[in-house]
Amino acid sequence: MIAYILYTTLAGLAVLPLFLYLRNPYLMNDINYAITALRIARKISKFKTHKPFYSILDCFLDNVAKLPHKKFLVFEESSFTFSQADKESNKVARALSTHAHLKEGDTVAVFLENEPMFVWIWLGLAKLGCTAALLNYNIRSKSLLHCFSCCEAKVLIAGAGLRDAVEEVLPTLKQQGARVFILSEDCDLDGVENLSDKIQQASDQPVSLHLRANIHIKSPALYIYTSGTTGLPKAAVINHERIWMASFLQSIAGVRSDDVVFVYLPLYHSAGFLMGLCGAIEKGITIVLKRKFSASQFWNDCRKYNVTVIQYIGEIMRYLCNTPKRDNDKDHKVRLALGNGIRSDTWADFLQRFGDIHICECYGATEGNIGFVNYAGKIGAIGREHFLHKMACPYKLIRYDTEKEEPVKDSRGFCIEIPTGETGLLVAKIGEKTPFSGYARNKQQTEKKKLRNVFVKGDLYFNSGDLLKIDDEGFVFFQDRIGDTFRT
Ligand SMILES: *[C@@H]1O[C@H](CO)[C@@H](O)[C@H](O)[C@H]1NC(C)=O
Ligand SMILES: *[C@@H]1O[C@H](CO)[C@@H](O)[C@H](O)[C@H]1NC(C)=O
Repeated sequence: MIAYILYTTLAGLAVLPLFLYLRNPYLMNDINYAITALRIARKISKFKTHKPFYSILDCFLDNVAKLPHKKFLVFEESSFTFSQADKESNKVARALSTHAHLKEGDTVAVFLENEPMFVWIWLGLAKLGCTAALLNYNIRSKSLLHCFSCCEAKVLIAGAGLRDAVEEVLPTLKQQGARVFILSEDCDLDGVENLSDKIQQASDQPVSLHLRANIHIKSPALYIYTSGTTGLPKAAVINHERIWMASFLQSIAGVRSDDVVFVYLPLYHSAGFLMGLCGAIEKGITIVLKRKFSASQFWNDCRKYNVTVIQYIGEIMRYLCNTPKRDNDKDHKVRLALGNGIRSDTWADFLQRFGDIHICECYGATEGNIGFVNYAGKIGAIGREHFLHKMACPYKLIRYDTEKEEPVKDSRGFCIEIPTGETGLLVAKIGEKTPFSGYARNKQQTEKKKLRNVFVKGDLYFNSGDLLKIDDEGFVFFQDRIGDTFRT
């Protein structure tokens, strides 16, 4: 009898892994995710209680202390170590503190293409406790003025190449009493101050920590603009907590400390800035920065700079697949691609053509309080459900009437959660741990993204505007977008 029990128990144990695998072939992915998620949760709670608050800038400075000679940023033919980047940004901080009289809490609009100076300016502003508004360098006139004013910026810093765009709006900026700096040594525009020479002349010694002593996790760190199909861009308020959440995406996707990440997406958007730049700082890895995406140079750049991690948006993967085939298509070190919006057919093409690259599709809006990561690499899915994730960020898919363009209500006037496998509108509970910071000086648009009395009287949810479907394996699929916003 005992022998029999022993025997069946042992046999049971032997087939247990098989049994678990049959029930959930993604078990290992789920376990890895759980371990990473718990690690991240522990880190964030440590940062929150750390006095003074531990920001992404402090993480950068720790890298400077630990890895001073490691390459931080590579751009065209130049490269900068963590220590050099620290000094460059000290000069910026000193020049701006002296000549623009910036102080903690001021907002500065940054109007620059992807170049190392973008990063030095941001780090310099962070060292002064200032908030950076990241302007899209393609905007002009009315849109540019709107983006500048809606975050209450007092200072504009523009790249030398954007002189004409600045000239166009200069009279209005001056009327508003704004200070305008241009990153050139000889600018002939009246009312525009040279910045490059002031930065060059400044000392590279660190600025005092007191300058940013009151920054806390909820302080606005950045404004990132989301573009709508209609109307002017809206400035999403990105506080330090939000920066941290986005920075950890690289860890969730499996980026390692010996990776090299290629950042060619614009730094004025959350993909390039938060997931790319801030994520790389969080991991202490090297960034290869590129001014603009180029399909023809893409793989040569990856080979030249030993890139191992790339970011993408759906169209870019399609452009890459549409380039003429080459013999050396698989000759590169890229092992991981991180991004969103890749279509299933492109995904399959991409893998076949460029080799065994783990594609980690993510979902999330710049201003949203919910995101998903398809860490299991299932083709076509934008994410995977996980109970830890659901506990941390409670979300639901609700029935939506696409004709009337509103959620379907039950007899008591509440929304209806849809069963697995059906398409519904994603809503995420707004709470202390999952806040929605909204848009700067735009109460109306901020309110529009909120849903009240969803399941009980008085509850509050973020309306993602996205129709999703979750299959019986727990994979999340994008179905459609409602309302007037693009996915950005
Ligand atoms: C910018 O610098 C150049 C040379 O350093 C100088 O000639 C010019 O007057 C400066 N312009 C302004 C607006 O300060
Ligand atoms: C890339 O890696 C190769 C081989 O490991 C090395 O020889 C080369 O110097 C690296 N290039 C760069 C830009 O780091």
